[in-house]
Amino acid sequence: MNYTDIFKGEVIMTEYITTSLKNRPSDIFLAEEIASEYSLKYIQRDNLSLEDLFVEFNCSSLFMVKNKELNLFNNKGDELFFHPGTGLIRTKVMERKEEDLLIKALGISPEDKVLDCTGGLANDSVVISYYLGKGSLTTLEKSRELFLIVKYGLLTYPGGSKKLKESFKRINLINTDYNSYFEKLDLNKSENVFDSIYFDPMFEKPVEESSGISKIREYASYDFISKEIIEKALEHCRKRVVVKIRNNNYSFIRNMKPNDLLGNSKSKIRYAVFEKHKIGYVNI
Ligand SMILES: C[S@@+](CC[C@H](N)C(=O)[O-])C[C@H]1O[C@@H](n2cnc3c(N)ncnc32)[C@H](O)[C@@H]1O
Repeated sequence: MNYTDIFKGEVIMTEYITTSLKNRPSDIFLAEEIASEYSLKYIQRDNLSLEDLFVEFNCSSLFMVKNKELNLFNNKGDELFFHPGTGLIRTKVMERKEEDLLIKALGISPEDKVLDCTGGLANDSVVISYYLGKGSLTTLEKSRELFLIVKYGLLTYPGGSKKLKESFKRINLINTDYNSYFEKLDLNKSENVFDSIYFDPMFEKPVEESSGISKIREYASYDFISKEIIEKALEHCRKRVVVKIRNNNYSFIRNMKPNDLLGNSKSKIRYAVFEKHKIGYVNI
């Protein structure tokens, strides 16, 4: 394997949750609630600085409830919080009846059932959910840190239109590994079959270093996309499996023989499309 899709650094496991220095009762209540639901240790903040907390509890990251919003800090002072990012711009473009390339790649209709296997900060999920009217979106995320930031972020994000907020609420976000998720699904049950399934894997050196991806790097999982997982996903879908690829890092997809490739060679990202029923491959 000569592609760099597996991050060799250490994945952070966040054990603690606290509140901001304001110690608002509503924040304390929410922090305690999240701690008990997700087996985190609650730290009473009082007047302790963040630096003091990292030293006293010997940790490198911690969750913080700040004015009803859940944030994540590391000991370098970086703060991670939910933001729909490019998803926000793309939904505005969709409002102008312009087509989003991911929606085109997925080949879906508004009433379809979609599975996003790699949630991240949910920028793509937001676009998919916004597009789906009566349909449904299930989003998987392996990292507990990213899952929690997105779960609470989708509920409390202050901006956006009513339609956008409603689309946030419709995302069925699950903290799980897509490999084990597929293993547990019984294919004989129609509710376990999706119209289209999407993967957007992490790469060690992403092209969009300035984007939201760089903020999640230390918390994300770096599972690579294998031929087996594409085949498994094809078993679970009626239409397509789509994999986002970066133009400087796509050799891995070549052997998997996608049926189509959307996006032009000058753009940083493209979508490899695997059709459920199609013979004929695209040359990459
Ligand atoms: C590139 S990011 C996805 C970004 C996302 N499409 C967005 O628009 O915000 C990839 C995400 O997939 C997650 N991931 C990697 N392997 C996974 C697995 N086996 N199961 C579930 N999630 C996984 C990573 O933790 C990371 O958050």
